Amino acid sequence: MAKTYITTAIPYVNGNPHIGHAMDYLLADTYARFCRSQGDEVRFQVGTDEHGNKVFRKAAEAGLTPEAYADQNSAKFRNFIQRLKVTYTDFIRTTDPDHIRRCQAIWEKLRPHIYSAEYHGWYCEGCESFVTQKEYDEHHGVCPDHQKPYQRLSEQNYYLRISDFKDQIRTKILAGELTILPEFRKQEMLRLLEDTPDISISRPRKQLTWGVPVPGDDTQVMYVWVDALSNYLTILGYPDQPIADFWPAAAQFVGKDILRFHAITWPAILLGLGLPLPRRLISHGHVLAGGQKMSKSLGNVVDPVEVLDRHGLDAFRYFFLRHIDTFADSDFTWEKFEDAYNHELANDLGNLVQRLATLCQKNSVPGQPIPNLATSSAAQSASASALSADPEYLQLMRHFEFSKALDHLWQQVQGLNQAIDAAKPWELAKQGNTTAVQEVLTDLVQRLLVVAARLTPFLPDAAERITTIFTAPAITPPATPLFPKSA
Ligand code: MSP
Repeated sequence: MAKTYITTAIPYVNGNPHIGHAMDYLLADTYARFCRSQGDEVRFQVGTDEHGNKVFRKAAEAGLTPEAYADQNSAKFRNFIQRLKVTYTDFIRTTDPDHIRRCQAIWEKLRPHIYSAEYHGWYCEGCESFVTQKEYDEHHGVCPDHQKPYQRLSEQNYYLRISDFKDQIRTKILAGELTILPEFRKQEMLRLLEDTPDISISRPRKQLTWGVPVPGDDTQVMYVWVDALSNYLTILGYPDQPIADFWPAAAQFVGKDILRFHAITWPAILLGLGLPLPRRLISHGHVLAGGQKMSKSLGNVVDPVEVLDRHGLDAFRYFFLRHIDTFADSDFTWEKFEDAYNHELANDLGNLVQRLATLCQKNSVPGQPIPNLATSSAAQSASASALSADPEYLQLMRHFEFSKALDHLWQQVQGLNQAIDAAKPWELAKQGNTTAVQEVLTDLVQRLLVVAARLTPFLPDAAERITTIFTAPAITPPATPLFPKSA
């Protein structure tokens, strides 16, 4: 059984979850569920990034200690992740004592690549990122993501010698040992790597108190990104416990804005530790509202709870996985959301289930066995695998083309609706051709069960309901349709 490790970016706890945060979780969860359907043993990390000035400042504004503020907001993320039915196995908080201790051990191991020097340059607190002069000039001194002027810093810091690893990182990316998706982002990262100087990895304690203390130097605290990136290893128990079962990660999901930390700083840390690089970094685009980045000041932030309350979890998952492109920026509008719900979920899938279940009930067609989609399962019979084989689906899922995979599955849903229209089982029944009716409907039920299994990673609840209905000894249409039409 393959062991597969899947990770997500851990959000800062400086505010409430918004719909953009759902992207990491939904993509990673879809992949995790798919891997399990193929028989893999999956370890799946989520969590919260709790240190740094940004969180410290917000806690002070809220009149809370950073600990209390982090507790409160970490719990909001945990609830959100649970409401999305994300099938994680591990939840990490960067304030966990185990994480802090392990981070310090990681620092010790990196010592041969660490040196101390003065930093004179720019910083963006919103990004918690050191900014090069070139970036400062390109953006005219103002962070494009946070619309705030960069801060000027002059301080003594520890540095990680990125120059020790640049060649290896480039070679591994070019050789596909570390795959970065999509391809244009990989090219962007290769260009950025050339310009990347050694990276500052600490801040003086007088500038930053809320962080992991640098071992052996009580004047310095670790730069929040070093602490945050280490989470992917510390949650596995590194360096106290062996991690070879699950490391290297099969897939790490991150937003496009933080790919640079994962494509440059992170590989440098791993190489410094003598560990292999993750197999794949999948960088998704941003969810926009009305064509613009969501921000409190623009007043266009969409509350995920409102979207979940409107039509439930599967509609939420469906919209973000199909109509928000996996790799490009895409717009959320209520109009598009309602449209997708009414036309695709209610009309295409909901009606299919209702119609087919009603026909089966009328003609006493019994439920069928649950199909097994695992391509390598010994238990998979030849006839079952012929029915469930769908190379295009497998190819799209393995390449993280989730919106395209849903397009592909939707053709199958619509195909089943057309197949009912073409076979006209009600006419066969009128003619008294019971055997033909039974055959046609049984075949449709088997095909729908296979589509439901393929849909499981995307729409777990709907897929489960379909499976329950069409595997029951006597098929009966659901009392409430799968996706009731909105008023
Ligand atoms: N704390 C860091 C991540 C550390 S990972 C070792 C961070 N936090 S964040 O809260 O700013 O972002 C968390 C994730 O949400 C990132 O993957 C980020 O790209 C994603 N998104 C934040 N806003 C988003 C949208 N509007 N749309 C899609 N994803 C977005 O960065």
